[in-house]
Formats: sequence, C-alpha cells, structure tokens
Amino acid sequence: MRAVPAQRDCSVDSKNDKFRLVMRILSGVQPSGRQHLGNYFGAIRQFAALQEEGDSFFFIANLHSLTTVQDPEKLREFTLDAALTYLAFGLDPERSTVFRQSDVPEHSELFWILGSLVPLSHLERAHSYKDKVSKGKNPDFGLFSYPVLMAADILLYAADKVPVGKDQKQHVEFARDWAIKFNQTYVDRYDPADPNGVENGRPGIFRVPVASIQPETATILGVDGQKMSKSYGNTIELFASDKKVKKAIMGIKTDSTAVEDPKPTEGSALLSLLKVMANQNDYRILEESWRAGGLGYGHYKKTLLDLFHATFDPARARRQELEGDLASVEKVLQRGAERAREVASKQLSEVKLAVGLA
Ligand code: ADP
Ligand code: TRP
Repeated sequence: MRAVPAQRDCSVDSKNDKFRLVMRILSGVQPSGRQHLGNYFGAIRQFAALQEEGDSFFFIANLHSLTTVQDPEKLREFTLDAALTYLAFGLDPERSTVFRQSDVPEHSELFWILGSLVPLSHLERAHSYKDKVSKGKNPDFGLFSYPVLMAADILLYAADKVPVGKDQKQHVEFARDWAIKFNQTYVDRYDPADPNGVENGRPGIFRVPVASIQPETATILGVDGQKMSKSYGNTIELFASDKKVKKAIMGIKTDSTAVEDPKPTEGSALLSLLKVMANQNDYRILEESWRAGGLGYGHYKKTLLDLFHATFDPARARRQELEGDLASVEKVLQRGAERAREVASKQLSEVKLAVGLA
C-alpha cells in the first residue's frame, strides 16, 4: 500500500480549509442498480485517474437511491456493488476517502439548511427531474429535492472539482448558484465576481465547485440506443456473469441493414460503444469497414464483447478477490466515513454559526 501523501493531511488539518493549496475532488454514484459501462466511462474511470491529482472523496449516494429503490435488501446489495466497483477499479483507500453517504449525517442536515434558500423555480426546471416525470414517474418530494441533497454533498466538502457524466452538469451548476447565493446572504462583503475570494481574500463559506466532464464519454448509449441508465433497464453491467454480458451485448438494438450494405453511423448504439471501448487505431479500422459494408452486426457485437473482456477482466478478477474479504471492504467504508465526518462536521459548524443555529 502506498503512503498517504503528506499534502492531503495538510489540507484537512490546516486551520482554514478555504486557503488550502491542494485541489479537492468529490463525486458519487447512486446504488440504484448494478454499476454499468456508462458509470465507468462517464464517472468511475475519471475518479481513479483524479485521485492522483488531489484530495479525493468518493461516496456511495445511498440517500439519493431511496428515491428509486424501496427494497431494503436490494439497496444493501447495490450499495455493496458500488463499493466493490470503486475498489475493483483502483480507488485506493490510502489516497481517497471512500464512504457511504448515509454514514455522514451532516449531508442530511445541510440539505435542509441549503434548501431553505433554494428557489423552487430552479428545481422545476431540473432536466433530470423533468425527464423522469415525462417518462411517467410519479414525482415525490425526494425526487424533486434531489439536486439540493446533491449540492449539500458537494458543498459540505468544499470540493473544487466534481467529475461526472453530462447528465449531472446542471446539478453541479445548481450547486454553484446556491453556494454563491448562500455566501451572498450570509457573508459580509462577499464578492460573487470573485466567488472563492482569490483576489480579495474574502472567501465565501461555501467554495464554488466546477463540474469535470470528459467530452468523448459524456453520454454512453444503452442497448436500446437511449442514454445508458440503471433506471431505463438498458445497461451492460460491468460485473455481470460472462453469460449475461454476452446476452446484453448480443441484444444491442440494430436496424435491418443487410450484411453486404454500408451501415448507418448516425445514432448507432453499437458503433458508439465500439468507439469508447476500442483504441483510436482499431476504431478507425472498425469504422471504415462499418461504412464499407460486407460484415453483419453480429460480427461487430462479437468484437465489442472481446473488447469488453479485454478491458474489464482485470477489474472483474479483482472484484472476485474483494468479495472473498467483505470485512475489509466494510472497514474501508467505516474509516472513510470517519474521515469524511472530520471534514463535513467542520464545514457544518461554520454554516450553523453563520445562519444563527449555533
Ligand atoms: P444511472 O443513470 O445509471 O442511475 P447514476 O445516476 O448513479 O447512474 O450516475 C453515476 C455517474 O455515472 C454520474 O456521474 C453520471 O453522470 C454517470 N453516468 C451514468 N450514466 C451515464 C451514461 N450513460 N453516460 C455517461 N455517464 C453516465
Ligand atoms: N446525482 C449523481 C448521479 O446520479 C450522484 C451524486 C449524488 C453525486 N451526489 C453527488 C455526484 C455529488 C457528484 C457529486 O449520478
């Protein structure tokens, strides 16, 4: 195991977290189903890379999942799946703080305080909320207020950078808006033109975060051609059995273009998945043959399946090892929650003092 970088301790222990020099990175995934290719390329792959760049917090957003998973056994199972996914893809608990959201009660507490100044009109125009309602979901308060809890998650840790897929961009923008609004309301002479007080030395109580989105993997398509998502039942799971992975990949929706004909590139889920999985050179060759015709979709699906195994088999093996030692995984989560609480409780105390609750 690598040693904890000295820098990290400085950032946590320094008297004034606002003036720390180390970048802080924070993100989470929901345990609302099993993790899939979209989660990996949109989010988790970045997490593993970013943990080298700063002080990182990666959590399992199980409070958010209560809006979709109402079976306690399933929620526990998916929470463990998310933890194993993080660790299998190389999140290193010696470098990153890995924890369950519900183990840090400060998230729920800040949710309320922050929600007290969130304009209803913002929540009404949230894309992800509107999208779910338009797909027939009966909205409840949890779903409606989801972005407020997400903003609390981010602001509690004074995160600088939030690595996410494109669907979460608006949520991070809300967190920015509300951080500024809170600072304007409660910090004397706060300057929204210099939101983190870099120029004038007057930082807000909340640091203003930035979303980090990889353009080439911003939206991964599912087997039906829509955005891949646990809630649409169109995923290719990262850790399903070989048989199930094969079934999902062979089931990717394609049109009826004949084997010998050139294949349409526009809107093809299969081609877009090949693009994210193959290296640039191999993809160029694949795309040329796709445009030329002569090979059936089955051939490309088989290629995708081979790429899947070549890319993910090491993490799949690592996960199997971890499954043999779940006590250690639980220990990682508990240690993570302790460290997360150290940071979160300091921030919450400052907030309570500012608003008059302490
Ligand atoms: P889901 O939509 O399957 O419930 P989450 O909402 O838990 O997934 O997303 C966890 C992370 O994975 C977020 O950063 C999200 O933006 C990213 N993500 C999820 N689906 C995709 C996708 N299809 N393409 C790119 N990123 C995605
Ligand atoms: N809403 C995110 C998603 O569905 C998960 C999440 C919850 C999150 N809180 C967060 C992501 C804070 C980044 C930062 O993907």
